[in-house]
Amino acid sequence: MRALALRSLWPTQIYKSKLVASVKRRTRPQASQNLIEELLRETLIIREIDEEGQAWSKDRYVNGFTSYASWDDLHVRFAAFEELEKALRPHVRKFARDLAWDLGTGHLEMSTCWVNVMPPDCTHSWHIHPQSVISGTVYISTPPGSSPIKFEDPRHDRMMNSPPRRQDAQLQLQPHIAIMPEAGEVILFESWLRHEVPISKARRDRISVSFNYSWRDA
Ligand code: NI
Repeated sequence: MRALALRSLWPTQIYKSKLVASVKRRTRPQASQNLIEELLRETLIIREIDEEGQAWSKDRYVNGFTSYASWDDLHVRFAAFEELEKALRPHVRKFARDLAWDLGTGHLEMSTCWVNVMPPDCTHSWHIHPQSVISGTVYISTPPGSSPIKFEDPRHDRMMNSPPRRQDAQLQLQPHIAIMPEAGEVILFESWLRHEVPISKARRDRISVSFNYSWRDA
């Protein structure tokens, strides 16, 4: 009877789906695969030509490359990323519905979009995405041994003297949760949710495209 009195409130929602799931039925099934291949091709070119990004990554993204601080507007710079932005729209709309957001007269708009190339031993420590409402990543290449994305219970900073949770606690009660994405998948989360990418132990590069959305007036 006691269990009936228990309520689970304020869930933290994380969205994971195949990018192709949103592609309209009339579109050829290989369209998503083609888009992923095109994104891979353009990402490798960007890594070669974005010198500002190379310099920034040298100190802050050790062993790897990210255009986070240089070319973060790829959705208006390159055709494949423009296509990606279109392919993401239904996913973002669905996630906003799942969150029961009332956007009023405003709308959600991709504000930044950048690439990440993580060779072996590259890591991306805990962070949030300020000045955004939804953040996420589309996975381009996830070779065996590459890292998951890890999320932290957002109430952590309030748990000053709380006992630790049992190791066998249900998934939704664990303090940290790792999600292993596959190439061609998209993960979305609210931008305030802290996350990290642990050290990649894959022999090949783990490659992804990340992005932020803002809530803008119509
Ligand atoms: Ni991030």
